[in-house]
Amino acid sequence: MEGQQKQVTGYLLFSLATAVIGSLQFGYNTGVINAPEEKLRSFFNNTWVERYGVPIDPGVCTIVWSIAVAIFSVGGMVGSFSVGVMANRFGRRRSMFLVNSLALIGGLLMGFSTICSSYEMVIAGRLVIGLFCGLFTGLTPMYVGEVSPTPLRGAFGTLHQLGVVVGILIAQIFGLESLLGSDKLWPLLLALTVVPAILQCILLPFCPESPRFLLINLKQEEQARKALVRLRGSEDVSKDLQEMKEESAKMAMEKKVTILELFRSPLYRQPLVIAVMLQLSQQLSGINAVFYYSTGIFNSAGVEQPIYATIGAGVVNTIFTVVSLFLVEKAGRRTLHLLGLGGMAVSALLMTISLLMQKDIAAMSYVAIIAVMLFVAMFELGPGPIPWFIVAELFSQGPRPAAMAVAGCCNWTANFLVGMSFPKLVELCGPWVFLIFTAFLIIFFIFTFIKVPETKGKTFDEIARSFGSGPVPASSSAEDPPASAAVTLPASPVKEKV
Ligand code: GLC
Repeated sequence: MEGQQKQVTGYLLFSLATAVIGSLQFGYNTGVINAPEEKLRSFFNNTWVERYGVPIDPGVCTIVWSIAVAIFSVGGMVGSFSVGVMANRFGRRRSMFLVNSLALIGGLLMGFSTICSSYEMVIAGRLVIGLFCGLFTGLTPMYVGEVSPTPLRGAFGTLHQLGVVVGILIAQIFGLESLLGSDKLWPLLLALTVVPAILQCILLPFCPESPRFLLINLKQEEQARKALVRLRGSEDVSKDLQEMKEESAKMAMEKKVTILELFRSPLYRQPLVIAVMLQLSQQLSGINAVFYYSTGIFNSAGVEQPIYATIGAGVVNTIFTVVSLFLVEKAGRRTLHLLGLGGMAVSALLMTISLLMQKDIAAMSYVAIIAVMLFVAMFELGPGPIPWFIVAELFSQGPRPAAMAVAGCCNWTANFLVGMSFPKLVELCGPWVFLIFTAFLIIFFIFTFIKVPETKGKTFDEIARSFGSGPVPASSSAEDPPASAAVTLPASPVKEKV
C-alpha cells in the first residue's frame, strides 16, 4: 500500500486546505475576544446608560463580560456533541457547508451589536459562533482523517491544529489597537469570521465527499472510486478501495453507532477511555490559562509589554505546530505526546519558580517568558494536535462520529472549566497556581505511557483490531452482530452533492 498511497496531489491539498478553514475559524474565535475586553466593557456600559440612564454596576459588567466569553464554550459543547448526527445524516462535506450558516448568523449578530445598541447580540453571537466552532472541531479532523492516505494521516491530521494556531495568531494581530482592536472597529474584528465562512462555502462544492463515507455509509462504490481517483491522482485506487471494503465488510456493513451504544458496548470502552483522557490531557494541561490570560500572567511576572509577549507566544505556538507536522509520522503519536506532556510539566515548574522569585530577582521576568514559550512549544509538539486527530484513528467508520462527538464535548467542557476557574484559582493559589497543571500533566503522562498505543502507519482496521473492538469476522456478522450494531439505523439516503 505504501508507494501508491503516499501520493499527494494538488487536489488532495486543495480539499484539505478547504476543510482546514474551519479550524482557522475555531482558532480565530478562541483568540479574538481577549484584546477588545476594555472596549466591550465600555460598550456594555454605554448601552446600559442609554437604556436605564445610569452606568452599569461594575459587578454586573463583569458578569456580562464573563458570560460573553464563556458562552462560546457552552456553544462548543453542544456543537461538538451534535457532530455525529450531522456527519452521518448529511455527510461530511455537506455538513461543513451547512454549518457555515452559523458563522454568518453569529458574525452578523456581533457585527451589528453596536448599531443596534444591544450587548445581548454579542452574547447571542458568541453562543452561535461557539456552536459553529464545536461542530468544526469534529467535522474537520473527521474529513481530513478520512481523505488522507494512511502513511500521511498523522501529518495531515496536524493541519487541523495548524489552522487553529494560525487563527489564534491572526486574531491576536488583528486585535491590536492600531488594527481592528480600536473603539470603532472591534465589531468588525468579531464579524470578520463571516469572510472565511463564505470562502469555504465557495470552495466546498469543488471538494469530494469523503470516499469512506460514500463507500461505507452510502454503499456508493463508483462515486467513492471516482473521488479516490481524483484525490490520489491515479486510476489505480484498488488498494484504497479494498482496504475500505474490508473494513466495511468486517464491520457488518459498518452500521452507525449511537452515542448511547458507544458507552454501553464493552468493545469500545478502551479506545473511548483513551480518546477522552487524551482530550482532557490537552485541556487540563492548562494551555488555555495561557491563551486566555497570558497578558495577566506576563503582567504579574513583571513583563513590560505583555501584548507583544502574548503575540510571541502565538508565533512560537505556530512554529512548533509545524515542527510537529513534520515529526509526527517519524516519531509517532505516542512519543510526541509523552514528550509534550513531560516538557509542559517541566515548563510549568519553571513558571512557578519564576513567579515566586520575581519579587526578589528582576531578571526572573525573562525566565517567565521563556517558561511560557517552552510550555506552548511543548504543547504543540503533541498535546495540541494529536488528541484532535487520534480519535478519528482510534475508531473505525461505524463508531467514529459518535466517538468524535463524545471526545469533542469532553474537550470543550474541560476548556470551559479551565477558562472559568483559572482567575479564581489565581486568587486562591497565587504564584503556585501552575502546580495544579503540573500535577495533571504528570497523571496524564503516566496514563499515556501505560495505555496509549502507537497508531502511526496503521490502517483504521488494524487499529480497531488492536483493541479487540475491531470488526467481527464477516461470516459471523449476520447472525451475531457486534453489540455496536444492535441499535443502529440504516444508512440515510444522502446525496453526495453539496
Ligand atoms: C488546541 C486546543 C485549544 C487551544 C489551542 C491552542 O486546539 O483545543 O483549546 O486554544 O490548541 O493552540
